[in-house]
Amino acid sequence: MLTKSIHSYNSRQTQTNKVKMSFKVFILISFLSINIHSILGQQGKVRCLFQDSIEHGYTCVLELMKSDSVNDDVEGVHLPGKTDEDVRRVEGNWQDLVNIPPLICNVYINTEDIDLNSCLIERVTESSFKGCKKLKSLKLERNHITQIDENSFLENPELENIELWSNQLTTLPGNLFINQKKLQNLAIDSNRIVNLPNNIFKSLRSLKTINLSENRIPALNHAWFETLDNLENLYLHFNQIEDLPVGIFTHMSKLTQFSIYSNRLRVIHSHSFGLHPTLQFAWLQMNQIEAIDEKFILNTSVSEISMNFNVCAHGSIVDNSFSRVIMRIALRTCFENYEKLMAGPLTKLLIDRDLSSKVNV
Ligand SMILES: *[C@@H]1O[C@H](CO)[C@@H](O)[C@H](O)[C@H]1NC(C)=O
Ligand SMILES: *[C@@H]1O[C@H](CO)[C@@H](O)[C@H](O)[C@H]1NC(C)=O
Repeated sequence: MLTKSIHSYNSRQTQTNKVKMSFKVFILISFLSINIHSILGQQGKVRCLFQDSIEHGYTCVLELMKSDSVNDDVEGVHLPGKTDEDVRRVEGNWQDLVNIPPLICNVYINTEDIDLNSCLIERVTESSFKGCKKLKSLKLERNHITQIDENSFLENPELENIELWSNQLTTLPGNLFINQKKLQNLAIDSNRIVNLPNNIFKSLRSLKTINLSENRIPALNHAWFETLDNLENLYLHFNQIEDLPVGIFTHMSKLTQFSIYSNRLRVIHSHSFGLHPTLQFAWLQMNQIEAIDEKFILNTSVSEISMNFNVCAHGSIVDNSFSRVIMRIALRTCFENYEKLMAGPLTKLLIDRDLSSKVNV
């Protein structure tokens, strides 16, 4: 309607009408903005829909109008016999949420589970989860997070699960997880991570699963994984990793699933790996692998290797036998190339290709 009147005004082209019209437009805009404010005034507070569920326990489904206008009051009626202290899970049901309201952890201090996935959150700060000392699971995936302040999780020592996938992180501060000794699952895949500080995962001694895939990591840092002795699942696919440093995974004696497909690996050295008595799956497809150290197969218990779209082998190889006959046959060229590489001749070929790819870039 506004557009229409401006349009008809323009067609008239008289100075008087111009003044009258701008006045009308001004009134209309003021009216609209007063209206918006009054809507915010009514619903600017947070409302909680309390539910009791078998799966999550006593849950608060938060409805917010605008995080900036959130104060310490929460509207909503508790179920009979329940109080704020009984809330175990807080769920955000507001897709425009940009700032995490500190009120969640000021009011629901016993919450163990916060799920604010798929909002528009841009930043996690020191006050975001301060007060939630019993928090076990934090889901912040599918937001627009570019920054997480160093002390953001300092007061959450019980965290077992953090999901930050599908955000816009390029790195993380070094001491972010310093208090997360119980963390078991960390998902930071589908971000824009290029590099991470040396000590980033140092305190995560209980970590079982880490997903770093779909980032922009060009090289792995030995220091990242040094203390992750209990890691079972390591996902590194869809990055730009060119090689695996000596000893990088040797201490991971519980490694079960290892995925590094769609990277730029060319040689699999056994010196990167250890004995890994529980390793089952190695997803190596979509690299440029042309040589594999036979000891990688013989020294691990890996029973399934995916080699699709590599240079020296193709297909998925499953071999549970003790003798590893199937793997030896399927990967023969890779093993032979590795011996040649160590003996000399293939080195030149690899170096030549290295140069040509660098020239192209
Ligand atoms: C790891 O991240 C990738 C990429 O976002 C995703 O497709 C995959 O499901 C994740 N894996 C696990 C086990 O969570
Ligand atoms: C392979 O395992 C043996 C022990 O069975 C160990 O001595 C050797 O260092 C391992 N080799 C590599 C390359 O990890």
